[in-house]
This record gives sequence, structure tokens and C-alpha cells, in this order.
Amino acid sequence: MSVHSQAQRVTVPQLMSFKGTRKIAALTAYTAPFARLLDDSLDMLLVGDSTAMVGYALPDTLSITVDTLAAHAAAVVRATQHACVIVDMPFGSYQQSPAQAFASAAAMLAASGVSGVKLEGGQPLAETTRFLVERGIPVLAHVGLMPQYMNTMGGFKAQGMTDAAAARILEDARAQAQAGAFGIVLEGLSEPLARDITAELDIPTIGIGASPACDGQILVTEDILGLSGDKIPRFARRFADVGQVIRAAVQDYAESVRDGSFPTLDHCFGVRRPK
Ligand code: KIV
Repeated sequence: MSVHSQAQRVTVPQLMSFKGTRKIAALTAYTAPFARLLDDSLDMLLVGDSTAMVGYALPDTLSITVDTLAAHAAAVVRATQHACVIVDMPFGSYQQSPAQAFASAAAMLAASGVSGVKLEGGQPLAETTRFLVERGIPVLAHVGLMPQYMNTMGGFKAQGMTDAAAARILEDARAQAQAGAFGIVLEGLSEPLARDITAELDIPTIGIGASPACDGQILVTEDILGLSGDKIPRFARRFADVGQVIRAAVQDYAESVRDGSFPTLDHCFGVRRPK
């Protein structure tokens, strides 16, 4: 039985209260089996739109839909009891207007039971964040390298490397905090900038390729478990090679089927055994 089975799920205000007291440990989760395994150890699970690339082998995150992410989010919520579950707002589901964002976010909350949404964007999306928060939808902002902006950014590149770019991103982070975001993901940023943003803002920063000074850390689960191929991003660390364990188990299974050692009569129903 989970050690947290009687405990309540981590709430958004609790995540906020961790700033300055303890680091927030977060990972992505897209499906029930993974969510079950991650739940006890983590403060937050993100049903990220990265599932487009990780789970669906798509080249980018742009084509995942509200319905698809909401279905993943519902599975993750059903499979967990402890971690705060946040879902990404898919590309095209919130940028048009605050009202469009509210309709998309409300649909995902109603369908899945997540505790909040994440959206990519700085100053231009601050009004949207305020609109959602004032209507009861907690928002985790995401600035710096924003995969949904890959076409305007010219790919997946670290951000904030010049003084001018760093100043713009600092303004983005300030605008989101002022608009009521409960936290902010800092992705692919120059380290000193991530450190400065963390020191200045009252809300927790959650880094990915940012700085050890951030108030928390998030990574794609498959990257830390050896499930995303040979190459992992420079900002990740492989904490286990689960891929190797799976390959060996599947090879064992295939050999057992082929050599007739599996299944045995123990795996069958209504077997006539000699008396
Ligand atoms: O979609 C995602 O997985 C993300 C993070 C890893 C921050 O946005």
C-alpha cells in the first residue's frame, strides 16, 4: 500500500509554500503505469505536451490536441493519490484569447481532475494567465525555451544568452508572476538569468536546463530512465537504464515462447491432470 494512501494530494498552495523551504521534485507522466510508479516520490507530475514527441514519435509538440492531453491527464490523475498533477495547454488551444484559453483549460480540468494547467508564454500571455487564475484555474507559466514557439525561435535553442534577450525573459517572468502564476518553468536558460529570476520572484521556479538555484526541477521521465534512445539532453542525467531491463526481459520472453518453455500447463485453464 502506498505510504501516501491516506494522505491528501499536494495542492497548488502547498507547492507555492515550498519556495525557500524545500526543493520541488517533478517529472512528466503520460500514462497510468508510470504515474503509479512516480507518485510517491514526487511533489508534482506534469502531463506534458512532450508526450507528442516521447509517446507518439511526432517531430514536435504542435499537433497534440486538448482531447488527447485530457485523456492522458485523466489516466494520470486516476492512477495517483499524492502528487499535484498539472496538464499542459496544447498549442493553439489558448493563444487566441483569454476566453479561448478558459474554455480549453476548463474542458481539460473537467475531463481529468488535474489541479492546474501550464502554458508557454511571457508578457503576451500574462493577461491570459490573469483571466484563468481569477476564474479558478491555477496556472504554471513557462518561459525561456518554449517548444511551442520552435518556428519563431528557429528550433530548440538555449535562451537569454545576450543581455537584451535576458532582460526580455526577466520581464516575461515578472509579468507572469504579477498576473498570478503559481510557479514558473524556466527551460533552456542561461544559468545566471535563471538564478536571478529565482532570487527575484516570490513564486517557485522549476528548472529544466536552467540552474541548480531554481526552487525545483522537472525532467522528462523517459530521459532519466534510459527510455529515450542513446542520446539524452545535456541538462538531463540517466538515473537508471530501464530500457536495458525491458530489452532483456522481452528477449527472455521471446526465447521462452520459441523454445516452448512458456507457457506451461500452469498458465492454462481447465487442465486435466493425472490423478
Ligand atoms: O511538455 C513538457 O514535458 C514540458 C516540460 C518538460 C517542462 O513542458
